[in-house]
Amino acid sequence: MNTQEREEKYELAVYPRRDIVLVGGQGARLFDDQGREYIDCASNVGVSNIGHGHETVAKAVYEQYLTLGNCYSMFYNPVRARLAEKLVDLAPGNLKRVFFCNSGAEANEAALKFARSSTGKPEIVACMRGFHGKTMGALAATWGPEYQKPFAPMLPGIKHVPYNKFEKLEAAAGEQTAAILLEPVQGEGGVRVGEREYFQKVRDLCNDRNILLIMDEVQTGFGRTGTMFACEQFVPPDMLCLAKSLAGGLPMGAVLCSDRVSVPLKSHTSTFGGNPTACAAALASIDVIENENLVQNAKTLGEYFQQQLRGIESQKIREVRGLGLMIGVELKEKAGPYVQNLMDKGVIVLLAGATVIRLLPPLVISKEEIDTVVNALKDVLAD
Ligand SMILES: Cc1ncc(COP(=O)(O)O)c(C=O)c1O
Repeated sequence: MNTQEREEKYELAVYPRRDIVLVGGQGARLFDDQGREYIDCASNVGVSNIGHGHETVAKAVYEQYLTLGNCYSMFYNPVRARLAEKLVDLAPGNLKRVFFCNSGAEANEAALKFARSSTGKPEIVACMRGFHGKTMGALAATWGPEYQKPFAPMLPGIKHVPYNKFEKLEAAAGEQTAAILLEPVQGEGGVRVGEREYFQKVRDLCNDRNILLIMDEVQTGFGRTGTMFACEQFVPPDMLCLAKSLAGGLPMGAVLCSDRVSVPLKSHTSTFGGNPTACAAALASIDVIENENLVQNAKTLGEYFQQQLRGIESQKIREVRGLGLMIGVELKEKAGPYVQNLMDKGVIVLLAGATVIRLLPPLVISKEEIDTVVNALKDVLAD
């Protein structure tokens, strides 16, 4: 049996697969088992912001695992303490405490629970095309009948309104609303950038009505959009949900909370949450982001990338949009076939809905690599 056959035989078929076996990665490059090389414009869906195979994180993980790999949070631990302090230092001023977990869905699950415990109110308003994960609570906030239907009934009390439409949100937020949950840029939903005026109005509404604002930055965090957190370009939230690239590729999630958030002792815990190995990886990864100027890279190279993409003359392109190195190329037709065509040309991209090619390269991608990707797109989208 080869790798494909083995995975198909022994794993549940929940992921649509691509027909390659990846065995290595370095920087913004990936390698398959046939010796082919790819420019990575997917970053494992926003995980590999610092690129693949970074020595700084590898060393930190190795050393921490040998020192103390796990430490349940009933005990204090200096590495966890340092990471909590670092995240609070990096985040907007009103976010002062951290809850550690292991994934994006778990971060959102925690935030939904914290919203209820902090306000005593049960309801959440989220957005159409929003994506917050697929565990039971997060799934109820995620948009999409295709995801929800097999697992009905959903957690009650979650309403969905159109994104960037303040009047609809205002009408949906009532007496019983605990929190509004938003992505600053909708990723899975098609790379749709939030409008700043909309976010300001949402912030004011939350203040007026004692509603908590939760920003899901699982995909936009850690430099992706040209600032460390995208909310710096919008408004400060009461809870900031993080995961994906937080620990440089190791599984980790976190919720940063303002003073408005309170949770009873023992009411929410996680065995692996804040384990020192993941914390050491996160501290090392944040060091890499800072020392290699990756936030600035995302901003300047993101602008360059978008500008080059806008220069492609193709009737097939409806729009190029994005923020930093989170970019969507919306086509007038289904984007699926182009994903394979691009892979044949050595470029790995993502989809975001049926018609959008999503580009989330590692923030270490070079200008030359971007030029190669643009040329590949030019070729496959030629009229
Ligand atoms: C904005 C956002 N929130 C939550 C999630 C879920 O994260 P995870 O797959 O780690 O549960 C994702 C994953 O794509 C995401 O993009």
